[in-house]
Amino acid sequence: MDANQSGTGLIGKSKAELDTPVLLVDLDAFDRNIATFVDYCSETGTDWRPHSKAHKCPEIARHQVNAGALGVTCAKLSEAEVMVEGGIGDILIANQIVTAAKHRRLAQLQRHARVISTVDDADVARRMGEVAVDVGESIPLLVDVNIGMDRTGVLPGEPVLELAGIVASTEGLQLEGIMGYEGHLLDVHPPLKKIEAIHAALDGLIESKNLMLDRGLPCPIVSAGGTGSYMITAAYEGVTEIQAGGGTFTDLMYRDTCHVETFDFALTVLTTVTSEQSGHIVVDSGFKTLSSHHQEPALLGWDDLKLRYLSAEHGVFELPTPGCSHPRIGEQVELIVGYSDSTTVLHDQFVGLRDGIVEVVWEIRGRGKLT
Ligand SMILES: Cc1ncc(COP(=O)(O)O)c(C=O)c1O
Repeated sequence: MDANQSGTGLIGKSKAELDTPVLLVDLDAFDRNIATFVDYCSETGTDWRPHSKAHKCPEIARHQVNAGALGVTCAKLSEAEVMVEGGIGDILIANQIVTAAKHRRLAQLQRHARVISTVDDADVARRMGEVAVDVGESIPLLVDVNIGMDRTGVLPGEPVLELAGIVASTEGLQLEGIMGYEGHLLDVHPPLKKIEAIHAALDGLIESKNLMLDRGLPCPIVSAGGTGSYMITAAYEGVTEIQAGGGTFTDLMYRDTCHVETFDFALTVLTTVTSEQSGHIVVDSGFKTLSSHHQEPALLGWDDLKLRYLSAEHGVFELPTPGCSHPRIGEQVELIVGYSDSTTVLHDQFVGLRDGIVEVVWEIRGRGKLT
């Protein structure tokens, strides 16, 4: 991207004037997707704390909060720091933070915002509490519950109760509730089977909550849910907030693998055809511009042209028949993103358009924030 292609210099330009490749946000679709989340959460009486891993951008987080989100979810402490700097006041880091240096950063962050984290280990919780006391702050925590994904978390029931009791009685910590993530069930199909499977997983979470309440332990937050499951999880009795965020852009993974059809594609890569061959065309976007991880990108409006492969700087699309109609050299085409998370991190900024005109440029300030 050249100097003229960055920042506010782009505002007011038409799509055709943009140099490629460039990451675009269709602002009408983006606004509709946010409204879909907000309306559904309001209908089901659930708070929305969208995961921000797909955008890593405080301006987008502020849009979500201004529309009705409670705050955001992050994966990493450094992402949360960027969000706090960007004015977000209520954050969940949906991961266990384990080193003393990071415990200190997390404790210090409490001076500027409520930054909740998660634990699945009693020793980590005790060490975190000691650092928090030393810093003079209290760290809000959720107990991470393994509801079948087998990634992190303690098992539902007694193990949750035990860890929750330790958190509640450790100086420097504040027990805020529990979280689980049903990420292993997003692609279950057909819908009835998916509902059944997700309900069974969430049962463990709610049983754990009830056990905690019976023992007099506080559990104001029960957090779960992703874009691939949000309709089922938000409507499930006892879940208080959902972490679903990716639907704000949506992508082919949510549509084709998770069968979620309530959102519009808001994220595309504008690209230019750079070569025409007898059986394929080439665009100026390879794996350094967008990703095939989880799901391949697709050419918007050219359903018949399938991706053959992405090399570093070339996207090669197969023509169904030689000589068939296809975009020509120099023509701009848009690629619908296959998986947003692994695409946005390759870019410095989002260029937001309405009616084909650039309205905003948002810096991806969380890009590279991995600690
Ligand atoms: C802990 C956690 N919560 C929620 C999500 C869902 O996020 P999204 O709605 O962006 O797919 C994920 C996805 O990886 C996750 O790891």
